[in-house]
Amino acid sequence: MGGEDDFSEFFNLMKERDAILYAAEIIKKGGLVAFPTETVYGLGADAFNPLAIARIFEVKKRPYFDPLIVHVASQGDLEKLVTGMPSHAKRLIDRFWPGPLTIVLLKREDVPDLVTAGLPTVALRMPNHLMALGLIKQAGCPIAAPSANPFGYLSPTMAEHVRDQLSNQIDFILDGGPCEVGVESTIISLFEKKPRLLRPGGVALEEIESIIGSVEVKPMKEGKPSAPGMLAKHYAPRTPILLDWDKNNFDSHKDKKIGLLAFQEPTGSLKFSHIEVLSKKGDFREAAANLFSAIRRLDSLNLDLILAESVPEIGLGRAIMDRLRRASHLTHSPPLKGGESPC
Ligand code: TXA
Ligand code: MG
Repeated sequence: MGGEDDFSEFFNLMKERDAILYAAEIIKKGGLVAFPTETVYGLGADAFNPLAIARIFEVKKRPYFDPLIVHVASQGDLEKLVTGMPSHAKRLIDRFWPGPLTIVLLKREDVPDLVTAGLPTVALRMPNHLMALGLIKQAGCPIAAPSANPFGYLSPTMAEHVRDQLSNQIDFILDGGPCEVGVESTIISLFEKKPRLLRPGGVALEEIESIIGSVEVKPMKEGKPSAPGMLAKHYAPRTPILLDWDKNNFDSHKDKKIGLLAFQEPTGSLKFSHIEVLSKKGDFREAAANLFSAIRRLDSLNLDLILAESVPEIGLGRAIMDRLRRASHLTHSPPLKGGESPC
């Protein structure tokens, strides 16, 4: 006991505790705090303070029709937010909270319309991250938080990502290191008769169906997304991404600087400017955790094009493919001609 390692661990814990207390004070005063969750970093404010919520939309340049998820630290917090709890909602909460599952239920009248974009429902989740839970508890209020990125861009999975894009517009960033899951929560709507998947994410659909039976999976229609924020082109980096790459894609762009986003270690010897491998052993969890950081790294290299490999759409693969589709500007389009804009 009392070795140098014990002391540095102790001081780190104290620093973390002080940072959470400081961040909670900011939330109480109506400020904005970026904080880590197990999925991605969120940009949080007191869910019952409309002025603070309005600032989230301003900072993110997010359209007001796109509602926010409200984060809670205990099931008791739900009393302030929803009118009732259907039995399948309770079963999902008992199984997956804290964790990467968001449920949509009918809201109480006093939940601000700005949070829910005027909908009669509210999206709720309890993050599986000690800093996030500590922040909500200390602030003493549920925290409304979208992902902490400018609207339309990739979600941040490290504090640096938030610092790079939003630091001068927000009040504090709680740094909890890299996010473990790496893709956003799964969203399930539970206020209609039949549960419906609104966004694939960190909990696999198969796992949810094993608890509550079959879930409706409506494909997103162009211009009419089921979760208002799920626009077809989203999570987009600046560099065009071409999904479903094969060797022919490469040949038709070979005079360009091309990066590869590979699921597993690629075989063969094509000359990419840079290759990012999501998981050497082809593990979905590892691939999801690396996805947004890998795209960000490729996006910072001034490439002409990123070719992305598809992954099988089972388990977490469904969420990975959903994000890749939304990030790709050019899927199934003809090859780029010199100087042509990809968007
Ligand atoms: O993992 C996550 O869910 C992260 C972390 C920070 O918790 N949050 C996140 O929030 O991804 P955001 O705002 O980037 O995405 C929330 C999605 C949006 O597509 C929004 O339209 C949908 O949730 N949503 C929110 N409230 C809704 C509601 N009442 N009905 C349907 N969709 C809703
Ligand atoms: Mg987002």
